[in-house]
Amino acid sequence: MPTPALLDAYAGVRPATTPVWFMRQAGRSLPEYRASRAGTEMLDACLTPELAAEITLQPVRRHGVDAAIFFSDIVVPLKLAGVGVEIVPGRGPVLDRPVRDAADLADLVAHDLDDDALAPIEQAVARTVEQLGDVPLIGFAGAPFTLASYVVEGGPSKDHLRARTLMQADPEAWRTLTAWLARVSGAFLAAQVRAGARAVQLFDSWAGALSEADYRASALPASAEVLAAVPAGVPKVHFGTGTALLLPAMRDAGADVVGVDHRLPLDAADRLLGGGVPLQGNVDPALLDAPWPVLRAHLERVVEAGRAAPAHVLNLGHGVPPTADPGVLTRIVEWAHTGA
Ligand code: CP3
Repeated sequence: MPTPALLDAYAGVRPATTPVWFMRQAGRSLPEYRASRAGTEMLDACLTPELAAEITLQPVRRHGVDAAIFFSDIVVPLKLAGVGVEIVPGRGPVLDRPVRDAADLADLVAHDLDDDALAPIEQAVARTVEQLGDVPLIGFAGAPFTLASYVVEGGPSKDHLRARTLMQADPEAWRTLTAWLARVSGAFLAAQVRAGARAVQLFDSWAGALSEADYRASALPASAEVLAAVPAGVPKVHFGTGTALLLPAMRDAGADVVGVDHRLPLDAADRLLGGGVPLQGNVDPALLDAPWPVLRAHLERVVEAGRAAPAHVLNLGHGVPPTADPGVLTRIVEWAHTGA
């Protein structure tokens, strides 16, 4: 059987047609997702193997994308470790007990994630892979910095001030926190690979809030631990937003492929990385709503800029917005595969 185009591209071998998938391809843009999720809380859906598998498969059936990404969330390993967390619709992850002092931290890191608790994840991945045939499944986890932002703030934030204060003011507490997050995120990722995921992506969505020096000193080591939990031979993608200044450091964390948001053209990303790194991205989600000729011209520029890299996997610069027209996503896949 030939290697799927996605895995060739992740290995740095440019396939005949550009592989494409979308971050948050499983989600509210799809009516079948909204129907499947009706009446079920987000994290309950993630922990119901049949439902998680069904939702993972929906965008593959509909769009013909080159990969499935496992339907779950970056806070699922915290939930499985027994931490009080929920995902509030329209807002994001919210914790019962934000980590604000030494007692909060001690309480958090007393939680542990054993392999038994990961059973629903392995079951969901195994079911998904069975039904995917040759289409590879991408497993994922959240990077410790991005998770720490939710844990310390207690919910979503714009500037991640409290997390960045803790990082500087109490390096020892920060190390304890990020080492714990690396362990649970790494266990979550390793479980997905055990059960059949053929590539992984580490989401450090908010890493762009850090300077390169702070990233290297205080975020990279824990991210490297998560990536080190993945067995050799499984390609590792590393993605964040606003990371133009961080791309070489994100590669140095142990990534084989670097994801780029819409702010930085892929040829510039290739130059910053010194060449030789397969890239993923970076269609501006705002253009999904533009007239097709405008979007097509943008797609052409993205793919052209991506030729600077050894290989390129087409994706958005961030997740599919809930308001996106799914027909537009299908059309992008057709365009990537046929040029029409
Ligand atoms: O990409 C995929 O299709 C796979 C599934 C996936 C989800 N979350 C499902 C989800 C992935 C890879 C994630 C990662 C994730 N979760 C990140 C990193 C990527 C990124 O977007 O930057 C972050 C920061 C989170 C935390 C989170 N979870 C947020 C901010 C939200 C949005 C809250 C909202 O209602 O706007 C979620 C919820 C979430 N995760 C949804 C989905 C499909 C929406 C849940 C719903 O249907 O209400």
